[in-house]
Amino acid sequence: MKTPEPLQALIEDGLIDEVLRPLKSGKEASVYVVRAGDEVRCAKVYKDMAQRSFKQRVQYEEGRKLRGSRESRAVGRASKYGRRQQEAAWKNTEVDALYQLRDAGLRVPQPHGYFHGVLVMELVTDAEGFSAPRLGEVELDADQARAFHAILLRQVIGMLCCGLIHGDLSPYNVLVGPEGPVIIDFPQVVSAAGNNAARRMLLRDVNALTAFLGRSAPELLDTWYAEEIWELFERGELRPDTELAGDWRPDEREVDLDSVREAINDAREVALIRQQGREEAEAD
Ligand SMILES: Nc1ncnc2c1ncn2[C@@H]1O[C@H](COP(=O)(O)OP(=O)(O)OP(=O)(O)O)[C@@H](O)[C@H]1O
Ligand SMILES: [Mg+2]
Repeated sequence: MKTPEPLQALIEDGLIDEVLRPLKSGKEASVYVVRAGDEVRCAKVYKDMAQRSFKQRVQYEEGRKLRGSRESRAVGRASKYGRRQQEAAWKNTEVDALYQLRDAGLRVPQPHGYFHGVLVMELVTDAEGFSAPRLGEVELDADQARAFHAILLRQVIGMLCCGLIHGDLSPYNVLVGPEGPVIIDFPQVVSAAGNNAARRMLLRDVNALTAFLGRSAPELLDTWYAEEIWELFERGELRPDTELAGDWRPDEREVDLDSVREAINDAREVALIRQQGREEAEAD
């Protein structure tokens, strides 16, 4: 096929040899199947910030470290320079996360580098070598759904032990490879320690998977693993191989202080997002 413009520089630099076909164009990125030597890989080209929702991302970036104080201040002001920094940070976050998770032994696409704003990584395939389907597109029986749930929880725990929460986990950000599910799509990863919304995001991630897999194995719908995982994490007791008891239950007798606190944090986030939106409008 004709080489898409953002991939031209990678060919010129000899980082890839050929673009074979477009794989998928999502909200945030276009993914292509490419050839590098005799290996087939994929290349993720991020869309411009203008094509994505800038404001929605505020909450994800809380607690994320930027490289220097000039960068942090600029991002804080949402100036043009700040937005460029934020744009770069957004892309780098996915690359950094992939390397970090790979190094921790988690099952993520093997990264092959980040060049000219493009992430080159392993193409996850099915048993026949075709690009792997997404979890949301496959039919599972109850045993498979239970097995996938256990594997995915283990991955979520492993990520949390790295200090990270996916933040956008859904059956559409999980691919089904021959050895089981593979989590993808990390630009919005959340720092578990530095982000007020971390617990809620962990719950949302796990619940999204549980809701989907629970269609095939309904008993999963009555589980509270995310709450148990978060409790262990907060107590500093979570390890990649920690066995979950599965017996966590909400305490209905006590005033639910957590949800009060969450409501306050939600309100605070909305205010922050509005503020950033106003500053953005002023900067334009
Ligand atoms: N490493 C990979 N191997 C195989 N397929 C992949 C890989 N990475 C991405 N894809 C395919 O490309 C699609 C889009 O990738 P990704 O989810 O990373 O980007 P996105 O733009 O955030 O997508 P969306 O907005 O749809 O979530 C995935 O749903 C998947 O089908
Ligand atoms: Mg995606």
